Amino acid sequence: MEIKENYSLKKHNTFGVDVKAKLFCEAQNEEELWELYSNSKYDGIPKYVIGGGSNILFTQDYDGLIIKNNLKGKKIISEDENSVLIKVAAGEVWDNFVKYCVDNNYYGIENLSLIPGNVGAAPIQNIGAYGVEIKNVFNSLSGINLDKKEFEELGKAGCKFGYRDSIFKNEYRGKFIVTSVVLRLSKIKDLHLEYPSLKSSLQNIPQENITSRMVRKRVIAIRKSKLPDPKFLGNAGSFFKNPVVDYSKIEEIQKDYPDLPFYKFEDESYKIPAGWLIERCGWKGKRIGNVGCYEKQALIIVNYGGAEGKEILQFTNDIGISVKSKFDIELVSEVNII
Ligand code: EPU
Repeated sequence: MEIKENYSLKKHNTFGVDVKAKLFCEAQNEEELWELYSNSKYDGIPKYVIGGGSNILFTQDYDGLIIKNNLKGKKIISEDENSVLIKVAAGEVWDNFVKYCVDNNYYGIENLSLIPGNVGAAPIQNIGAYGVEIKNVFNSLSGINLDKKEFEELGKAGCKFGYRDSIFKNEYRGKFIVTSVVLRLSKIKDLHLEYPSLKSSLQNIPQENITSRMVRKRVIAIRKSKLPDPKFLGNAGSFFKNPVVDYSKIEEIQKDYPDLPFYKFEDESYKIPAGWLIERCGWKGKRIGNVGCYEKQALIIVNYGGAEGKEILQFTNDIGISVKSKFDIELVSEVNII
């Protein structure tokens, strides 16, 4: 394994922030990953594992070892006439895997098309879009438990999935490296078409004629119309989570904004789109220096080129302050800030 020194991470984070890692390497298999954590020569060096770098904001140089998880491969563990159990390595590109499943008529993740990043990161934040979350099809995952220094398998309950949340963002934060994920996908057509923008884009087609290929195509078109491509404009998707509030908060905001969009979440709680709140605070399309709030979707923060991580963080802190003072709602970042 080649360990590079003073290595620029610009290509390894979709924000395109140019910070340096003191040390950098790419692990191509479990053995290499294990070596980095078990060989005493790497003791005492802070380590951080990245996948596609699509949910990270680096605010400074990293004084340690950045490990790019490059584990590849997928395999069918078992199947019957109803479903298939597939194991995918953490370093596979998520959207390539979605395409493979759609091409093979394995249903369940077509709504998650074009989400940037790698398979290993998907359960960490329980990726979700257009009414589907990975937890819906999740079976289990394997990885290295860094406290116990051993491989561990976790089932669905063990991962404690929540909205853009899991055990890996809480008790296991920094203590677990995902090496592979096992999903159970349906072989029987089972589509989720209720999300408003997806539903309206498919409204002219009779339900029985809708295929997962069509859903993938529409999801890709909707995403491309609203979300900037990190290849051209640095960003990390939604920067904040949609806040979860109780109904009294909805009523309070509705007094001034009867058009407030909101969705029932769990029990007595509701989600308000953070993009709506940010837009109402006047941030949509605003630019300060090299950082901006995207003109087509206020939840996306963009790097117009050359922005430093600290600048991006400052911009998002200012957005948080505006939303807090106007609506008395605390925005929580979805992106990992390092
Ligand atoms: N809205 C505004 N202004 C904006 C953006 C949104 O008023 O600038 C309002 C509109 O009413 C719109 C509603 O918010 O109808 C919802 O917008 P959208 O469908 O774009 O979804 P979102 O809630 O802003 C979430 C996810 C996205 C995911 C979409 C589609 C979070 C934090 N974000 O965004 O996920 O693609 O739903 O399912 O839950 C990501 O996590 O990186 C991500 C892109």
